[in-house]
Amino acid sequence: MDGELAAQRQQLELAGQAHLLRFWDELNEAERAELLGDLRGCHFAEITRFFERAMQVPATLQRQQKQIDEQMEPVPRDVQGSVGRDEVRLPEWEAEGLLRISENKVAVLLLAGGQGTRLGVSYPKGMYNIGLLSRKTLFQIQAERILKLQRLATEQFGHKCTIPWYIMTSGQTMESTEKFFAKNNYFGLEEGNVIFFQQGMLPAMTFDGKAILEGKSKISMAPDGNGGLYRALRNQKIVEDMEKRGIGFIHVYCVDNILVKVADPTFIGFCVKQQADCGAKVVEKTNPTEAVGVVCKVNGLYQVVEYSEIALTTAQRRNADGRLTFNAGNICNHFFTLKFLKKIVKDYEPKLRHHVAQKKIAFIDDRGQQIKPDRPNGIKLEKFVFDIFQFSKKFVVFEVLREDEFSPLKNADSQNGKDTPTTACQSLMSLHHRWVLNAGGKFVDENGTRIPDIPSSTTGMSEAVTAAVNDNLKELTDVPIKCEISALVSYAGEGLDKYVAGRDLRPPLIIDEKGVRELTTNGL
Ligand code: UTP
Repeated sequence: MDGELAAQRQQLELAGQAHLLRFWDELNEAERAELLGDLRGCHFAEITRFFERAMQVPATLQRQQKQIDEQMEPVPRDVQGSVGRDEVRLPEWEAEGLLRISENKVAVLLLAGGQGTRLGVSYPKGMYNIGLLSRKTLFQIQAERILKLQRLATEQFGHKCTIPWYIMTSGQTMESTEKFFAKNNYFGLEEGNVIFFQQGMLPAMTFDGKAILEGKSKISMAPDGNGGLYRALRNQKIVEDMEKRGIGFIHVYCVDNILVKVADPTFIGFCVKQQADCGAKVVEKTNPTEAVGVVCKVNGLYQVVEYSEIALTTAQRRNADGRLTFNAGNICNHFFTLKFLKKIVKDYEPKLRHHVAQKKIAFIDDRGQQIKPDRPNGIKLEKFVFDIFQFSKKFVVFEVLREDEFSPLKNADSQNGKDTPTTACQSLMSLHHRWVLNAGGKFVDENGTRIPDIPSSTTGMSEAVTAAVNDNLKELTDVPIKCEISALVSYAGEGLDKYVAGRDLRPPLIIDEKGVRELTTNGL
C-alpha cells in the first residue's frame, strides 16, 4: 500500500488534488483501501481537462443563448413522421420494422445508469414497484415487451428471432441490476441476450475544480451522464458485440418511461425507410412553459434545446395551425444505425464537451463533519445521449402520442406532482383501458352497471384545472379504471378481441396469459 500511496500522492499533487488525502493518517486499513480504490478509478489529468473544457462555456453563455434563439429552426416536415398525421403509412413502417426484427438486425439499449435522486430510492429505478396490480417493475414490463415482439416476429416470419438487450448501468447500479435479473430468470429472456455494461463515473467538483470528499475515505462520485453511453460502448467493447451479432439498428431509451415501446417496429421501420442514420421519437409540446427539451436545428445542425436555454417569446411562437413552432418534445427515445454509432464512438465522442450541472453535494469539512449544503456548492460533469445528433447525415423525427407512449417516473409520490409512481400507473392503466374499449370490451361497476367509455372529466372544470389538463394531455385520460394488460398478451393493443370483445368486464382486472382475471379487493 505504501508504494501505491506514494505514487498517488505524487499524482494528486501534480493535479492539484492533494486535499483528497488530508484525512489519511486518521483512516483504518479498510478505509485506506476504500480511498485508494476510489483514487484508482480517477484519472485526474483527464478529469481536469474535462473540467476546464466544460467550464469554458459560462463566459460565452450569454452570447450563445441569444444566438440559439436567433438560429433555431423547427424540424422540417419532410424529415418527420407522425402517428397522427401519417396514419396510412403506419402499417408499411410497422411491417418494415418487424421484418428487420425477424432478421435479427434490431437491438435495444437501455440507459439505466442514473441515480434516481428525485425518486429517492437507493436501488435502481428499473427495480421499483410502481404499484401496478401485477406488481411488475419497469425492468419486467420492458423485458416482456421484448419477449412479445420476438414472438410476434417469429410467428409472422416462421423462424426464431432475437432482440438483444444491452443494459447500461453505472458503478452504483451494476451489481444490484445484474442480481435482480438473475434472480428473476431474466424475465423469460435468454441470459446470453441480456448484456450489461457499465458507464463511467466522475468525481463531483467544487467550482474551482477540486474533487469533493463526501466522507473521510470516500470521493463523491457520480455517473458521467447518459451520454456516457458512447465512451462506455467503446471501453466495454459493446459495438464489437453488436457487430458480431449482425445488428444493424439500435433503439435507445430511458428506463423510467412506463409506456416505452421497446424496439417499436413502427419507429424503426420509419427510420429505416427514410434511410436515416439517427432518429428521435418526440411528443408534441403543447404548453410553451413545459419543462421539456425540444428537438430542432440550431445553425443548421440538429440538437435538443432545453427549455431553460431559450427566451419565453421563442418558446411561445406558434404556426398558422396554432401548434407551437418548437413543438418536438424530446422523450429520450432514439434510433441509431450501427454504422452511425461506430463513427460516433470512434471519431466524435472525444470531441463532445461535458455539460455542467450545479448541485448540492454533501462534503466533509476540515473537522471531518459531513455537511449537507442547502444551495449548490459544486458541479457534476455530464454528457447527454442527444449530444451526437449534430453529427447525423440523415436525421429524422417521429412524433407519437404522449398519452400512448410517454409517462416517465421521476419523482416520489410524496412530492405530489408530475411524473410520480401514481401518474405512471394511471398512464399505463388508461392506455390499457382504451385498448379494451377498442377491442370491443366494456367496463361495468360492482353492480353490473355500464361505466361510460369516456368519463366526463372536463365538464364543470375550473379554469385552473382545465389549464392543468392542457398542460399535460395525459391527465385528460386519467380514469379510475384499474385494468392492466400483460405485454405477453399484447404489445400495442393487438390481439385483445378474443379476450374482451362483447364482454362486460369488472375492474380491477388483469389480462395476462392466464386470461382475464377480475380481482376482488382481497385479490390485490
Ligand atoms: P435522468 O436525467 O432523469 O436522471 O435520467 P435519473 O438518474 O433517472 O434521475 P435523477 O435526475 O437523479 O432524479 C434519464 C435517463 O438517463 C439515464 C437514467 O437512468 C434514465 O434512464 N441516465 C442518467 C444514465 O443512464 N446515466 C446517467 O449518468 C444519467
